[in-house]
Amino acid sequence: MKQNLIIAIDGHSSTGKSSLSKLIAKNLGYTHIDSGAMYRAVTLFALQNEYIVDNKVEVEKLVPRLPEINIEFRYNPASNRNETFLNHTNVEHEIRGLEVSSMVSPIAVIPEVRDYCVALQQKMGEKGGIVMDGRDIGTTVFPNADLKLFITASAEIRAKRRFLEYEREGKNISFDEVLANVQERDRIDSSREYSPLRKAEDAIEVDNSNLNLEETVEAVMQIISNYTK
Ligand code: DC
Repeated sequence: MKQNLIIAIDGHSSTGKSSLSKLIAKNLGYTHIDSGAMYRAVTLFALQNEYIVDNKVEVEKLVPRLPEINIEFRYNPASNRNETFLNHTNVEHEIRGLEVSSMVSPIAVIPEVRDYCVALQQKMGEKGGIVMDGRDIGTTVFPNADLKLFITASAEIRAKRRFLEYEREGKNISFDEVLANVQERDRIDSSREYSPLRKAEDAIEVDNSNLNLEETVEAVMQIISNYTK
């Protein structure tokens, strides 16, 4: 198989895209790049600098500081994954919390933030041999990607998966709240003017409502092997 393909994996939140992409990259000996982590890191930067007041982003304060934001992924052999660093500090855990999760969509609609993250994604992926997951990888970041997948599942199933995750972590949050958060993120991600979440015309859709992670990996590896035959 060609060693330098660009594989774009887009889709809705909580479809397990990142875990899936990580495993696909591992199977192929590729690098996995989680583009959502970049929007999450920018959100954390905005929170740290108090540019989010009463759930409103102070865009005019954040935008001029974008050039000061350094985002890197470093492989951690102990966790066997790439971890996100914001200005040289490991923020992998912090960017997954509810505070960042609930403010990331309004940050990801800011055109200057998108331009900044997209340029970084293009630079990280330019040599190929990557699996990049996100919302607009097949449409905007790499419109000429070798293979595009679009992962989806019903909102209820996705909320249930996230709810169980929070429960395991001992977080006290109701299913209805989690469902509302999933639906609100879908709404913002799909309706934003600049680079909205949508399936690329040439993307292959995978609905994993009735598949677990292992079964989804299997289905996607099958698609990849048919594709590279
Ligand atoms: O995949 P995720 O849940 O970590 O993404 C976090 C947020 O970032 C989500 O609200 C959508 C946004 N995002 C985006 O707009 N474009 C991407 N390529 C990746 C994520």
